[in-house]
Amino acid sequence: MAASVRPEVPADIDAIHRVNAAAFRTDGEARLVDALRAAGKLTVSLVAESAGNIVGHVAFSPVALEGGMGGVGLGPVAVAPEFQRRGFGGQLIREGLVACRQKGCRFVVVLGDPDYYGRFGFVAASRWRLRDEFGGGDAFMALELLPGRIPTGGGLVRYAPEFRLVTQ
Ligand SMILES: CC(C)(COP(=O)(O)OP(=O)(O)OC[C@H]1O[C@@H](n2cnc3c(N)ncnc32)[C@H](O)[C@@H]1OP(=O)(O)O)[C@@H](O)C(=O)NCCC(=O)NCCS
Repeated sequence: MAASVRPEVPADIDAIHRVNAAAFRTDGEARLVDALRAAGKLTVSLVAESAGNIVGHVAFSPVALEGGMGGVGLGPVAVAPEFQRRGFGGQLIREGLVACRQKGCRFVVVLGDPDYYGRFGFVAASRWRLRDEFGGGDAFMALELLPGRIPTGGGLVRYAPEFRLVTQ
């Protein structure tokens, strides 16, 4: 069955926590999403709903580039294990990118598998000489929502401090 993707509403909050806790090894990502929401930093938060159940979720939150130029970071993205590999993750990411563009976001960064995120147009952030705080290397990727939206000159991209929760 296909999923419908839509912005989160307050009634989804517990289900979003459960989906993240089920998809990842620990509940760090679930707590991260809760902390981002509490801090008003969920720029875009979409759920995938199938047969009345929340089966997936994607979050985008602000990142800061030295020099004040802002974009958003993609993640976490999670699909409940029993619903993976049905296209829901891809649908969440694609619709999330559209929502970010509609909100006027300039660019999106992500830390993840280059093969997976390359499908959505992400390329190595080193192309723009962007660096991340976590030593992501090739896993740190970026996507311009409109051509030329990542300033030349590069620099350090900082995620919201709530991201430190994931490693605790
Ligand atoms: C990553 C995730 C959201 C993808 O959701 P999904 O609904 O299974 O994704 P889709 O059905 O759209 O795409 C599935 C494809 O992506 C690939 N894929 C999924 N996760 C991947 C990963 N971490 N790295 C590389 N490829 C991945 C699968 O191999 C599959 O490819 P195939 O169908 O060609 O074999 C889901 O697997 C998940 O929740 N994983 C655990 C949490 C996680 O690691 N999130 C990403 C880091 S924030």
